[in-house]
Formats: sequence, structure tokens, C-alpha cells
Amino acid sequence: MSEDEQSGRMVSGKRQDEDSSVELNLRPRRLSEYIGQSKVKEGLSIGIQAAQARQEPLDHVLLYGPPGLGKTTLASIIAVEMGVSLRITSGPAIERQGDLVSILTNLKAGDVLFIDEIHRLNRTVEEVLYPAMEDFAVDIVLGKGPSARSMRLNLPRFTLVGATTRLALLTSPLRDRFGSIHRLDFYDQASMEKIVTRSAQIFEIPIDPEGVREISSRSRGTPRVANRVFKRVRDYAEVRADGQITQDVAKQALDQLEVDSLGLDDIDRRILKAIIEMFDGGPVGVDTLAAATSEEKDTIMDVYEPYLIQLGFLQRTPRGRIATRRGYEHVGITPSATAPINQQQQSLFQEEDSSR
Ligand code: ADE
Repeated sequence: MSEDEQSGRMVSGKRQDEDSSVELNLRPRRLSEYIGQSKVKEGLSIGIQAAQARQEPLDHVLLYGPPGLGKTTLASIIAVEMGVSLRITSGPAIERQGDLVSILTNLKAGDVLFIDEIHRLNRTVEEVLYPAMEDFAVDIVLGKGPSARSMRLNLPRFTLVGATTRLALLTSPLRDRFGSIHRLDFYDQASMEKIVTRSAQIFEIPIDPEGVREISSRSRGTPRVANRVFKRVRDYAEVRADGQITQDVAKQALDQLEVDSLGLDDIDRRILKAIIEMFDGGPVGVDTLAAATSEEKDTIMDVYEPYLIQLGFLQRTPRGRIATRRGYEHVGITPSATAPINQQQQSLFQEEDSSR
């Protein structure tokens, strides 16, 4: 499916045009305004205070976790808290070594450089980052062939904030150069409710606590999804009701968007059903699954699987993906109707039985 077709989706790993303007208004500016992720917040807060006391830049920070949980927001908060400027770029946007050298040499002392999707930097570009992160220097090669000379350029001391949805794809030399590594998790219901309430206040939209609960519980623990859903529910409330977001209005709007009670959309359900109906519950490799559902492998891995795994509907095994009993139940298929076909699955069902 093309990006254009994807752009109307409530669930999508990519920031959509509409999100940028929404997020600008909604994004918390200070750590104290940031809801949830308490461990990450505490770690960053200690690091920031210590760096400020020493009048040094913060050590490089790596943030990882599913899309939409606030990695960019945290980078921007770090810059605000440290009182420095933020420069935003991404792995795929930096094609050549020279691109990165130019970004680095234009930083001012203490600045935060945010590299999103840092796992997608190409190797030669990544090699520029090693001395930059470690020694605040870049080695540039002048000339070609036998007369080529290398020259070291000093850089201002800066803080690199890297973000990735796939920690495992980071090379260890890169990973080792971060002073702290933080994992962002899906938000719990209480935090999601606070975030939705805060958005409603900023947009000045009347919403009752049940409306907040309905939107929060169907936004897959992801603030970006909640804010997207919130806007569609607001449209629905204005066109089909009196503008007030009640539980009924939120329910009807979300049903119309085909987002179910747990926040799954038609693609989540297609993925689960494909595993169950086409591959007898799995295990099935992610490439095969991508072909069977006409979805991109990366989208399945970054966006859909993490939440299905969190719900306990899907498991990743060395041999592929498996639908769990709960996954079967959610899409309304009785596991016994499609008898488990192999040992791996059989043992999975037995484990689930014994844990009940
Ligand atoms: N908006 C989006 N994510 C948020 C968060 N974690 N805290 C406050 N507002 C948010």
C-alpha cells in the first residue's frame, strides 16, 4: 500500500503531515509536563541536573521503542531543559559523510543533535559519528590516492540524541558510545487518560471522563494514535452530535473508524487472521506474512507486532510468528477448530492452559 493510502490510518509508524502541526501545539515542552515513562524521565532528569551542575553538555542519549511514544518530544525537552538549540535529522536523510560533517560543524557548543531512525544510517556515515561522539572531532580526508591526507577537525561539544524502533539493528560500536540508553514502553491507561485530557484542554473541546476513557483505551498505549483518534472523534462529535465528546460519541466514532475495543484496526486483525487461517496459527516468517497481508515488513515489525505482542495475541519465536490462544479468541476463531499443527504451537497452548 502506498504512503498516501496509509496516511488516513489511525495506526501508522510514520508521522503524518497533520500530526506535525498537532504535535507542535500538544507537545509538552518541559520534563515536568511530560506524562508517563517515569523511569526514562527520572534517568534523564538526573543526567540533566548533573550535567548542568558541572556546566557540561549531557552525555549522548539513545531512546528506543515503538513509534509514536514520544522520542522526538523527549529530544526537544532535553534541549529546552539544557537551554540549548535542537537540530533534527534522521538516518535516511543523511546520505553522505559530507552531509553529516556539515551538520556537525554547524552545531554550537552544547547543542542537541537528534537523529531519528538512527539504525538506518549507512555504515560510512556511521563511521563519522564514532570520533564525533567520543572525541568531538571529525577526520576529513583531503585529496585522493597516495597524496591523500587526513585532517582532524575539532567540533563543539554536543549531545547526540539517537532514536530507533529497532535496538537490535544498531551496531555495537554505535550503541556503546551512548552514555545512557532508555526504552519507551506503551503508556498505561492512567497516563493515556491524562494525555487525552490534556489534549482536550489545549483544544478546548468538551469531553466527559467516559469519553476520555473510551479514546484512551482504544489508542494502543500510544499518544500519537490518541491525538489522531481524538481529532477524528472531535470531527464526529461536531458533525453527528452537539460537539461534546461523550462515551457514546467516542464509541460511535471509533466504530466508524473500525478501531476495535482494544485499539486494533483492520490491519492488526488481518495479520492475526492470516497467521491463523493461512498458516494454521504459525509459525510463519515475517516476510511470508508481509506478502500474505500486502503490508510492508518493516511496518509489521515496527508498528503492528509490538502491540499484538504486548496484548499477548502474537509471539515471536525463532521459527516465526505464532498466534496465541488469546489472539484466536480476539478474532473470533476457536483454536480447536483449526487444530494446532505442530509441536511448537501445541506446547504454546499447553503452557497457556497450565497458566490459567
Ligand atoms: N502528548 C503526547 N505525549 C505526551 C506525554 N508523554 N506527556 C504529555 N503530553 C503528551
